[in-house]
Amino acid sequence: MKTTLRGFALAFSAIVLLSWLSAAAPAQSSGLVPTPPMGWNGWEAFGCKVDEQLVKAEADAIVSSGMQKAGYLYVNLDDCWEGTRDSNGNIQPNSKFPDMPGLVKYVHNDGLKFGIYSSPGPKTCAGYLGSYKHEQQDATTYAGWGVDYLKYDWCSAGSVYKSSQMKAAYDKMYQALQNTSRPIVYSLCQYGLQNVWQWGAGVGGNLWRTGGDVKDNYDEMWVSGIDEYGLQSYAGPGQWNDPDLLQVGNGGMTADEYRSQMALWSLLAAPLLASTDLTNMTQQTLAILTNPDVIAVDQDSAGIQGSRYQQTGPFEIWTKSLTSGSTAVGLFNRSEGASNMCVNFRGIGVGETAWVRDLWAREDRGSFQTQYCANVPKHGVVLVTLN
Ligand code: GLA
Repeated sequence: MKTTLRGFALAFSAIVLLSWLSAAAPAQSSGLVPTPPMGWNGWEAFGCKVDEQLVKAEADAIVSSGMQKAGYLYVNLDDCWEGTRDSNGNIQPNSKFPDMPGLVKYVHNDGLKFGIYSSPGPKTCAGYLGSYKHEQQDATTYAGWGVDYLKYDWCSAGSVYKSSQMKAAYDKMYQALQNTSRPIVYSLCQYGLQNVWQWGAGVGGNLWRTGGDVKDNYDEMWVSGIDEYGLQSYAGPGQWNDPDLLQVGNGGMTADEYRSQMALWSLLAAPLLASTDLTNMTQQTLAILTNPDVIAVDQDSAGIQGSRYQQTGPFEIWTKSLTSGSTAVGLFNRSEGASNMCVNFRGIGVGETAWVRDLWAREDRGSFQTQYCANVPKHGVVLVTLN
């Protein structure tokens, strides 16, 4: 009897907790991406030159390279997979993707998750079919294929919706995804228009782009990242500001510059979506993408988006508080030559003495008083934790 009553009380509490949770947050976002999503999206490396074989090979490379172990999970197909609609209006992949459910299954068998791409407009950015007037049908199709993630890109939607209808257009697909009952990460892509950070989570968004497409050069990459300055309060478990893909490995930046992108993205608690050819990357690219200390900063469970603490000309110091109580600090040198940079412990709220670990070197530097100084290469970063 006692056990039955206890069981009843437990079940009752669980129901109360569940209904409280579903009232507190859109169900789509709860629990899906408690830390920023990690994975691969080939857009910056391949554009429209993608097909089934390529996606399978990239998925396999995530596993064989060790990236999966490092936390990379989503294999996201971007634009250019779409074909025509059949006589019932169901979207068909084009001939480069002859068996979409088979491809999704293949990715799942690798222990990974599969993402797909569409637009609220009639056409995607590359001119393929969007989901306009087929939202529920497309969501149902994706769920049927086993899709786990949808990037929904504004593109041509401006030709059928006013800007003031943007939120409703995103909500429409959110409702459609909800109706499928399949948990699908919802990635809003509309380049930061209409202050999306203020309403993205309200339409079930798990992440939303904060600006235009990230470029494979240092200065423009930097702008994509620092665009997020001031948006800290909108990020947290389940909902992330998205400065776009990682260009690491694509050839337009030096290794130090790619380390800067990876470090800034991690301090920002940004999604880590590698966008290079993983089947053909150098050991250096792999090392930048998989450094466990750096990834731990990005994936910290508190989900705090870091912020710029200090800027003196081309020298910037960014900080992020971690669950452990330590503080991650990035000393970014944006000048044209190597330079000595120092962080003052008091200034960032760390006590007189701190234990310093260099995350790129993966080495403890020891105990320091008052400040830590390091020589930072041109366009590079020294990323440390202070404990
Ligand atoms: C837009 C997006 C990119 C990519 C392309 C695909 O430019 O911002 O990330 O998805 O469309 O056409």
